[in-house]
Amino acid sequence: MLYTQKIALTKTNDSNDSTDICFNRISQFRLRGYIKATHTEWTRSAWLTDLVKYGQDTNAPYSKRNCAAKMSVSTATMSLPNPFLSDLKEDILFHLGPNTRDPKNIQKFRDTKFVIIGGTPSRMKLYAEKLSDLFKEEVLDFTSGDRYAFFKVGPVVTVSIFTVFYFPAWCRLGSVSVVLHEIIKLLYHAQCEDVALIRTGTCGGIGVEPGTVVVTRNAVNDRFQPVFEFSRLGETVSRSTKLCSELADSIMACQNNNIPIIKADTMCAEDFYECQGRLDGAICEITKEQKMAFLQKAVEAGVRNIEMESCGIAALCNACGVKAAVVCVTLIDRLKGDQLNTPTEILRKWEQRPFTVIVEFIKEQLKISSWKNGDAS
Ligand code: URA
Repeated sequence: MLYTQKIALTKTNDSNDSTDICFNRISQFRLRGYIKATHTEWTRSAWLTDLVKYGQDTNAPYSKRNCAAKMSVSTATMSLPNPFLSDLKEDILFHLGPNTRDPKNIQKFRDTKFVIIGGTPSRMKLYAEKLSDLFKEEVLDFTSGDRYAFFKVGPVVTVSIFTVFYFPAWCRLGSVSVVLHEIIKLLYHAQCEDVALIRTGTCGGIGVEPGTVVVTRNAVNDRFQPVFEFSRLGETVSRSTKLCSELADSIMACQNNNIPIIKADTMCAEDFYECQGRLDGAICEITKEQKMAFLQKAVEAGVRNIEMESCGIAALCNACGVKAAVVCVTLIDRLKGDQLNTPTEILRKWEQRPFTVIVEFIKEQLKISSWKNGDAS
């Protein structure tokens, strides 16, 4: 009954660190009994083949370009800890749309290297359109009906956390979890290798200048522990929220824009008002002193921002062996207030910042320097 899939590891000439990570990951899976038999295959990725085949022609579409394929944070494992998946004749990814009965559609995702997840459908569409300029590839729109907005451009998938039919705030984690399960299964079915999943979005800052981008070091709960707890069949399940530190460091390392950026711990709260210690919700049963003492404690624990999705995303990715990062922009300094009263035009500009940061990282990974229209932002 154990689920088995060939694991292809990407080996590049100087990827010894990655190699270790790969072996560690496989050992972990073996120890946990998830892998019955592992076929380990050293393979140069399709991109490296392109490197040999095509010239450095930046006018060529992405798929025909000479992109340096080496991911500096490479691990390549696609094996899911679910023994029941192998019993499925077909896997209907109900919310996302694709169905394994249609292998042609699934194969379109085979070259996926980056998944950008977060925000509203319109923001994800905008990101896809901007990436289309970068890769000189058309945007493939997989949005199906009233569900999640979901696009692919070159090696990047962008997907909204909120459904097209907006989920209410209290339903958010359910919304993220649904889309994540299906995205991870899609990557699995398409036999993708070496994918980086990056959650992008907005957050509240603690003691940092609004507009600062925070790359998450640890995603922690409101007790500042790197775990995600949820209820399953009446019992509390606790999962590690460990993120890929190499991925976070790579994102930090390749910034050459003027965007303020820091690496810090991120607190994941269950709601926007009460659970983030706001005094301006419809109900408030804490004092200002309690709020400030909590925020101070958070700062001392290394937390510099608060949002609502990081722990759920980190926990699921970690359990499935998908490397993940969280890159969010702060819209407010919570030490100074609770209301988001920055003018909308400024907020819209700040909201672009995590994407600009992620694009720098993608460009660096793929060694792309040209933008058709100048800039990503
Ligand atoms: N998103 C949050 O979760 N909190 C904030 O304060 C701002 C954005």
